[in-house]
Order: sequence, then C-alpha cells, then structure tokens
Amino acid sequence: MSQSKQIRTAVFPVAGRGTRFLPATKASPKEMLPIVDKPLIQYAAEEALAAGARKLVFITGSSKRAIEDHFDTDRELEEALEAQGKADLLKTLRDIVPSWASCIYIRQPSPLGLGHAVLCARPVVGNEPFFVHLADDLIDAPTACLRQMADVYAECGGSVLGVETVPRTETDKYGIVATEEREGRVSRVKQIVEKPRPQNAPSTLAVVGRYLLSPSIFDKLEHTGRGAGGEIQLTDAIADLLSDEPVYAYEFEGKRYDCGSKLGYLQATVEYGLKHEQLGEKFGAYLTGLVGKFAKPAERN
Ligand code: G1P
Repeated sequence: MSQSKQIRTAVFPVAGRGTRFLPATKASPKEMLPIVDKPLIQYAAEEALAAGARKLVFITGSSKRAIEDHFDTDRELEEALEAQGKADLLKTLRDIVPSWASCIYIRQPSPLGLGHAVLCARPVVGNEPFFVHLADDLIDAPTACLRQMADVYAECGGSVLGVETVPRTETDKYGIVATEEREGRVSRVKQIVEKPRPQNAPSTLAVVGRYLLSPSIFDKLEHTGRGAGGEIQLTDAIADLLSDEPVYAYEFEGKRYDCGSKLGYLQATVEYGLKHEQLGEKFGAYLTGLVGKFAKPAERN
C-alpha cells in the first residue's frame, strides 16, 4: 500500500433512491435535502476537503443530475447576482467548491449495493488509500470526522472505520464490528458483519458512513458476492480484508445525525438551526415559545 499520508480522494456513493423520503425525493436526490441552507452533499464535500481531499468522486445514478449542477458553475445566476450587487450571495455560490478541487462523476449502472458503488470508483482512485463518505450520516464535530480518521491513519496505517455505539435493538441497520482491546478511541477490528440481528450481533459498535480504505479493498470487492439484502456489501469486502491487513475502528469525536431517517433529519435541522450564525438566536426564542405552549399546565409554573 502507498505510504503517502495525504488522502487525496473522497468517494461519495449517491446513487441510492432515498425511498424513505418520498415524495420529496421523487425528482430530487436525497443528498440535496437541505439542513437549514446547505444540502447534505455540500456538508459531505466540505468535510472531505477539510480532511485534505482534492478529488471528489460522486457515484451517481438516475435522477441525480441536481448534484452535478450544485457543484458546477452557474454563470447566468452569478451574472444576475453580480448585476444586483449581491456580493455575499455570489461569494456563497463561488465557495461551494474551491477551484483547486476536482469533481468527478461516475454513473453506477445498476443499484447493486454500496460495495459495488465503491468498486465503480476504482479507475479514478488508483492505488492509494481513499475516503468513502455517506452523506446521510451528518457528523457535527470540532474537527471534521474524516480529518480525525486521516490522523489515525497517519499513525497506524491500514484502514480506518468511523464507529459509534448504538442501541442493541438497532444493530440490524448497520455494519457491526467486534474489536480487540481499545486504546483510547482506536481498536483493531477482529470481525465485521452487515446488519446482524440484535441477538446475533458481536457487539453494539456500529460503522457509520465514514471509511478510510486501503486500495486493497478493490481486489476484495471484485470477488465479493451478493450479501445482505441481495447487494454487494462493502462490509463483506472489509471482512475479507481483515486477514490480510489491519483495519481499525475509530470512535470519532462529534455528534452524528442519521439524516436518512426523518427523525434524525429533523433533529439535525433543529440543532443546526440553533447554531446558525444569522438565525440561531431567533430560532431559539421561537422554540422556547413553542415548548412553553406545549408544556402541560403544571410544568408552566
Ligand atoms: C450502509 C452500510 C452499513 C453502515 C451504514 C452506515 O448501510 O452498508 O454497513 O453501517 O451504511 O450508515 P445503509 O444505511 O446504506 O443501509
């Protein structure tokens, strides 16, 4: 494996249809759902750029054109804003992605699963470690989660998976890892299983949508058959990698919002709204009033 410490490429699998958010996601990608005023995919790109990535690779599917448009220049809109003297908005648009970063779009020909989506990125990733970022999992962290993982990689090498403890009742929503003894936030992965039932889960440590993977994963993916849900699972390829190379679980610092679920999406919206520079104060006052209105009479005193 290349020992270059800089991770230059981030892969964003965005081909999934987002059926949980229908009808909102019928004609618009779920990754374009906004949290306050930025779409999820922009938070994703910003996190990868903050971790040092320069090449952003989007694995897209049908109905995902809006993502390409979002990261592309819109000359007409820019000219109109310039003519109206709206310099702030113009800057907001121009800052979506810096000029030194490149955006690459690869079409996943059929929805064969996350593992297959990652394999589609092979021709542009090459023989280097790379990030995989699932935009549904929004992580609010003092240091970008992928940056934290890049630091672990710089120290330990191997592959690094972002993990957090979940309730045992929810293990069937995640890739679950069993690890050796933990040193601080890092532990070596011994076993990984995709969406085990609670009674079969080897632990409650779940992989969230952050991966720093060795390029050896591609050879594994080439031979990974269909797993859980009939899809080619990234988890199964990582399981295969365990006997050849170290894979570490890293309990990141920060708070994750599962924006693939309506509840998680609303929670993120409220908390990012409260933190928003221009809106936060007013929104907080509004929420306080709302809570007062709904509080039971006894609680009002
Ligand atoms: C995917 C992965 C799973 C991981 C999860 C994190 O599942 O297959 O291993 O734990 O993302 O969000 P999905 O949510 O796409 O079903």
